[in-house]
Amino acid sequence: MNEKPIGIFDSGIGGLTVVRQLRKVLPNENIIYLGDTARLPYGSKSVDSIIQYSINNAEFLLSRGAKYLVVACYSSTSVALEILVQRFPVPIIGVIQPGVRKAAVLTRNRRVGVIGTSLTIFSGTYEKAFKAIDSQLQVMGRACPLFVPLVEEGWLEHEATEIICRAYLNPLKDDDVDTLLLGCTHYPLLMKAFRKVMGEINYVDAAVEIGVELADDLRTNNLLNSGGGGKLSIYLTDLSMNFKEIGERFLGEPMTTFSRVAIGV
Ligand code: DGL
Repeated sequence: MNEKPIGIFDSGIGGLTVVRQLRKVLPNENIIYLGDTARLPYGSKSVDSIIQYSINNAEFLLSRGAKYLVVACYSSTSVALEILVQRFPVPIIGVIQPGVRKAAVLTRNRRVGVIGTSLTIFSGTYEKAFKAIDSQLQVMGRACPLFVPLVEEGWLEHEATEIICRAYLNPLKDDDVDTLLLGCTHYPLLMKAFRKVMGEINYVDAAVEIGVELADDLRTNNLLNSGGGGKLSIYLTDLSMNFKEIGERFLGEPMTTFSRVAIGV
């Protein structure tokens, strides 16, 4: 059982930011990653579609023997996590709760900004999760749909990115948030640009937090792979232009093994 892989999915290759963190804290774990690049983006689609896609993705990973599922996509986690948990017989973790727990601990003035795709922000999932921890906490959500294409384009420090960052983030600055939660796979790559606008506040990247929580959970449930391994298999539903170059930016290491797979057809 313990040598079985951890299955991770995202709408595309942005979830490789989560894989990058997991490989740091859990170097012995085998990982299968599924990026649904053919149906990307999820963040501007309907709730029903994203639930269906998320079920397809989970079924694929379980058919490959996953012992644990990580929903690395914030949009999927927002609208489909509870359904996946009810439906599938393995432990499943999403990216929202770990970030919320960390932000709630860090904030001093109890004013937290959350940025994400339109689907994530309008789902209200973050507000619900924060209120469950602290009903007095003020949550300022901001949909930032232009950030994903900017990252995919590699415009991490481009002047256009700076202008767009100001347009999206200035209202959060005016709201005096002391903590900013990055609610999308792509946003950790824009940290420098965020700091330029928001300054030295707390930034929460759930990819880091999820590594810590997952390691604890695997240990508690005796699911750690103690026998070595550390194999990473990457499956994508479309090998789109530049996917390797962009993927390596997220993963932080060369993408050596990847294959195209058809799912949900
Ligand atoms: N992976 C998505 C998320 O974290 C961003 C890209 C998309 O919209 O599919 O919400």
